[in-house]
Amino acid sequence: MFASLLRSRPVHRLWLVLGVLALIAFALFPDQAFARETDLSILDPASPNAKIVADLYWIIFWLAVAVFILVEGALFWSAIKFRRRSDDELPVQIHGNTRWEIIWTIGPALLTLGIFILSLQTMWAIEQPAANAVAIADAQNVCFVGDVAPERAAQFLGTSTMEVQIFGNQWWWEYNYPAFGFFTAADMVVPVGAIVKLQMRSRDVAHAWWIPRLGGKQDLYPDEDTFTWFQATQEGTFEGHCTELCGASHAYMPMRVIALSQEKFDAWVQKHTATAALPPAGSQEEKGMLTFKKYCQACHNIPGVTERETHIGPSLQGVFNRTLIGGILDMDPNNLEKWIKNAPSVKPGSKMPAFANLTDDEVQALVAYLRTQQ
Ligand code: CUA
Repeated sequence: MFASLLRSRPVHRLWLVLGVLALIAFALFPDQAFARETDLSILDPASPNAKIVADLYWIIFWLAVAVFILVEGALFWSAIKFRRRSDDELPVQIHGNTRWEIIWTIGPALLTLGIFILSLQTMWAIEQPAANAVAIADAQNVCFVGDVAPERAAQFLGTSTMEVQIFGNQWWWEYNYPAFGFFTAADMVVPVGAIVKLQMRSRDVAHAWWIPRLGGKQDLYPDEDTFTWFQATQEGTFEGHCTELCGASHAYMPMRVIALSQEKFDAWVQKHTATAALPPAGSQEEKGMLTFKKYCQACHNIPGVTERETHIGPSLQGVFNRTLIGGILDMDPNNLEKWIKNAPSVKPGSKMPAFANLTDDEVQALVAYLRTQQ
């Protein structure tokens, strides 16, 4: 077949060469399409539920490889064996073969049924709390008999459980740590090894939570709580992205989980629960705080400073500890200034308006004040 292609008209050969070059290019530079380098692969799991998904992926992948080899092999074999050998020869003309048609109808049907059953098992293993515990135990080579609640499994395994409430907003994620009594945004920080139970709800339209290395997708709805969980098995930063089209800036709604050692996590909590000292009278930071009270507190909280609790925008307590501004800009004073001056230029449709009326002095004072929040 390839030989005849190579003997064919030059234009066909050109397409063949271009196709092969494109395949080589894709193989060598697979990530060129993405501007920001993030690890969104499910094949490098860092949580037991993500591992169950990756395991299923590999089973289906190797089944697909077997099917590919079988079908392509049969195709090439018959193309060669039954080819036309000379110009005046007509190959044997046949019409159908009942036995083979039954085989290649039932075979794929059974294969699909098998994949369906494996997928159901995986879904149950991820979603059912008892199965969660068994999966966790499995990943750590601990044997349980019967149904075990995750708390019980965690106790046996010497790990802790922690609850984080996630609120989806156009277009940012808010995290509530009920056990510690504070809200944060941009980074969800968790201790390594703890089973983190996520309770989610949207404040506007449907969003979807997905950090591929920490488990499967979970939708968030405005009228119903949904749940999932993960257990980070190593320290690190795990990236994800909203996977439900949710409006103008859906593309700018990434998420980030940072898993720290218990010690570093405790220090992080300490920072968030401690009330920052008020800036000294007459300082630039104090000027910034007054500007904050004038323009920002309608939408942003800082406990001890703002008058009422609001969730229109993220709480800015400890904001300078976060790694990102608006979910997309790296946290630094220049980006903070850029964001305050014109958030919609960075994130189209952002509810935070452009503050064109603020003077440069006021913006710099605001940045100086927000830098004290760490
Ligand atoms: Cu939120 Cu897409």
